[in-house]
Amino acid sequence: MLQDSSPEDSFLRDSFGREFHYLRLSVTDVCNFRCTYCLPDGYQGRPDAAFLSLDEIRRVAAAFAATGTGKVRITGGEPSVRADLTEIIAAVKATPGIRTVALTTNGYRLAERIDDWAAAGLDALNLSIDSLDPAVFAAITGHSRLRDLLAGLDRALALGIPRVKVNAVLLRGQNDDQIDRFLDWLRGMPITLRFIELMQTGDNAEFFRRNHVSGEELRRRLLASGWSPVLRSRDAGPAQEFHHPDYQGRIGLIQPYGKDFCATCNRLRVSALGRLHLCLFSEQGIDLRHLLRADEQREELIAFLRARLADKKVSHFLQDGFSGGTRHLAMIGG
Ligand code: 5AD
Ligand code: SF4
Repeated sequence: MLQDSSPEDSFLRDSFGREFHYLRLSVTDVCNFRCTYCLPDGYQGRPDAAFLSLDEIRRVAAAFAATGTGKVRITGGEPSVRADLTEIIAAVKATPGIRTVALTTNGYRLAERIDDWAAAGLDALNLSIDSLDPAVFAAITGHSRLRDLLAGLDRALALGIPRVKVNAVLLRGQNDDQIDRFLDWLRGMPITLRFIELMQTGDNAEFFRRNHVSGEELRRRLLASGWSPVLRSRDAGPAQEFHHPDYQGRIGLIQPYGKDFCATCNRLRVSALGRLHLCLFSEQGIDLRHLLRADEQREELIAFLRARLADKKVSHFLQDGFSGGTRHLAMIGG
């Protein structure tokens, strides 16, 4: 149930006046890929850890929805390693106030499960494809599944999933020289292809030093070749998007090191272990689990969220080489 007061009064706000309409909810830390920038040695944690149950997930979604959150992104690790992912999508979708349920996936089960996810009410899909070259894709992710992934992507489009995005992390010498191939692909693909600048995390400092490429050059190139910036919507993700009349697809650019990246922050994160993260790069997170035991705790949970938001910092301070407690993004879902 939404509160009686107008939604405008109930929004979660921080002390810098930013409002939070968008929750990123991780449902597992486990991932079966070994992306070179994230889990180069594969998942090392305990796959049997007690991740949020379906009921706990319902309670998180309901509390955030009561504060005006309209969009929930389900992330991991890799969410599709959970056998109950379809039920999770349906439960979040059934939460009054949640208009958009999005899923971030490495695509491993996409072709096989997308029909179920669509039927459960999935509104938006983010798929990681760091290269369109099968060999390069396999070298980056440790999986040679590119063909299945692309088949799953086609199926998602055929099913009419309203928003489909593909993420590619820009990597020096691995895909930054394949931009033309990506662009050609986009001529006939009604998706948004988002290039993400590599972020430094606790575990990847040396990799970052060798492979980070700035998105600035790509940005200049897009602007010089007829791409125009698109205005951001309120619950938009962190990308600056561009469109071009000759292309069905759009391009997005995520530049976490760019000036003012944090000024438009509109999202909060809850980890698979039920910790609130005020920032992707905040320390250990704030435990919510003691407030997720029963539906009756909802008001207490909401009051707790409001109080904790006062601690949200103005920026991630990544530009100062700070990566907080985040060893890799599988911990909290990017
Ligand atoms: N820097 C940038 N993007 C990353 N991702 C994972 N780790 C990093 C990193 N260190 C991306 C994944 C996926 C999204 C959820 O985050 O490739 O597309
Ligand atoms: Fe790759 Fe995502 Fe898995 Fe990390 S969590 S290894 S980025 S698929």
